[in-house]
Amino acid sequence: MRKFLLMALVCCSFLGFILSPVFGSDPFTPNGNQRKGKYLYRKYCRKCHDGSSAKELSPSSKTMADWEQVFANYQNLKCKDEWNKLKHKDLNDIFTYLHEHAYDSAQPATCG
Ligand code: HEC
Repeated sequence: MRKFLLMALVCCSFLGFILSPVFGSDPFTPNGNQRKGKYLYRKYCRKCHDGSSAKELSPSSKTMADWEQVFANYQNLKCKDEWNKLKHKDLNDIFTYLHEHAYDSAQPATCG
């Protein structure tokens, strides 16, 4: 019986290990802290995306669906290394800010 429990334990942790990449990369959901997202966006993204070294990007540059696409596939972007410097939670805050002020949102915002 003890051996069985041990086996079950080993199997469970093994399964968890295999599945962790799947659950580890949580999708982005607009339930983050948008005030913090705005700050983070200005600090980490806007320095390039103000039209200087990359094209100008504001929340209202895209629709909500566009932002969802961008965040779901950011590993394909030219600047993905910049994204990878940030924690998932911080990116989710940025996503929340951009999504909640997108072109077709209730309160579209430019970066100004
Ligand atoms: C070191 C400069 C730099 C930083 C920092 C940076 N990017 Fe980029 N980004 C680029 C460049 C260069 C491109 C590709 C060319 C372009 O769009 O001007 C790009 C492309 C993109 C695109 C695709 C363009 C489009 O219109 O869909 C998006 C979206 C984007 N970045 C968002 C972000 C976000 C969000 C952050 C912050 C997490 C960020 N970037 C940080 C330089 C940067």
